[in-house]
Amino acid sequence: MSDQPLPPDQMQPATRALDAGLVPDPLTGAIAPNLVASVNNVFAPGSAGFSAEGADLTEQPFLYARWTNPTVRALEERLAGLEGAEDALATATGVAAAAAVFLTFLKAGDHLIVSDVCYAGAYELATRVLPDLGIAVTPCDLTDPAAVRAALRPETRLIHAETPCNPILRLTDLAPLSALARGAGVLLSVDSTLATPVITRPLDHGADLVIHSLTKFMNGHGDALGGAVIGRKDLVSRLRSRAGVYLGASLSAQNAWLILRGLDTLFPRMRMACATAERLAAWLAGHPAVSRVTWPGAADHPQHDIARRQMALGGAMIAFQTRSDPATVAARMAERFRVIHYAFSLGHQRSICVHIGTGEIQRSTFRMEGAALERWKDWAGEGVFRLSVGLEDPADLIADLARALD
Ligand SMILES: Cc1ncc(COP(=O)(O)O)c(C=O)c1O
Repeated sequence: MSDQPLPPDQMQPATRALDAGLVPDPLTGAIAPNLVASVNNVFAPGSAGFSAEGADLTEQPFLYARWTNPTVRALEERLAGLEGAEDALATATGVAAAAAVFLTFLKAGDHLIVSDVCYAGAYELATRVLPDLGIAVTPCDLTDPAAVRAALRPETRLIHAETPCNPILRLTDLAPLSALARGAGVLLSVDSTLATPVITRPLDHGADLVIHSLTKFMNGHGDALGGAVIGRKDLVSRLRSRAGVYLGASLSAQNAWLILRGLDTLFPRMRMACATAERLAAWLAGHPAVSRVTWPGAADHPQHDIARRQMALGGAMIAFQTRSDPATVAARMAERFRVIHYAFSLGHQRSICVHIGTGEIQRSTFRMEGAALERWKDWAGEGVFRLSVGLEDPADLIADLARALD
């Protein structure tokens, strides 16, 4: 077999999930990626000096694992291939990836526009921590171009979006938002954790940076935390030398290896979970105890036109509301589920469901009032059950939901 890997752009996307950047180990011929656990590596004979000044750290030899590690690098190459990007930086968690972007591309005096409904951890980081550092932050409904235009300031440097948004599954139309950002000379980062590159590749729609929590569908097995930022080499190089070196939230080699193995099955996992989600969404929509189902693949999703343009599949996340008191339904789920787990997190091989109350998330995170709160309630009412669909047989999942809803 050739020791020259096929460039990712010459592979179909599903093949990239397995093979982008992968070559058999030159020493042993091993096909599976090696797990290089070593924290440090010896200097090559005759090269005892080291200066990373001005250089991209990936062009330096492996010396210390907080900067780069061979297994983490293999994951970064795979991720770049999957998103059709020049490079990627792996981080310890998804939140660390968002922090890396915010703290690399924003400084005191700058302004950030953040989606008003993005992942709670990223939203709290943006709205609670960044202002303490002198960075102004405006939460904005990114589905409304007029609102984005109004929020833009001369000091705006970054727009942070998410699509689909966790947990209400509102979508962000990336092409017009990218055009707006580009026109204003502002970077656009997109958290694509719920979509994965199987469903949407934000860079193809004009985004500058893609952020993932690798903890979710990308690893897909619920046994490793991880995150990544993916994009142009010059942007990732800045992230690597600043956040990668100084924030210290580097991914461990062990987790990189687990995530690489999870990525091998990303396409079949996502295809199966999305097909099951379609069946569950239809079943839930027909259930008398359910008042509303939100699934981007359904024709009645309020932004189904965006889903058709931007999503290859409908996704493996469903949000639904019940007619009766959600606290009672949640208690019944926790008690009666035999297959689905009533728990936080999402994107694992096993289905997970949890209720996210509007009062609760508004108090802890968004603190919306007036029209903004009404917009949230248009999607989420007094709260949604967030169902992350796994790989079980749909009949068993339906039986479980029936046990809780009937
Ligand atoms: C959309 C999204 N982005 C980011 C994160 C943060 O990921 P992590 O827990 O790996 O930091 C999550 C976690 O739930 C998420 O759902």
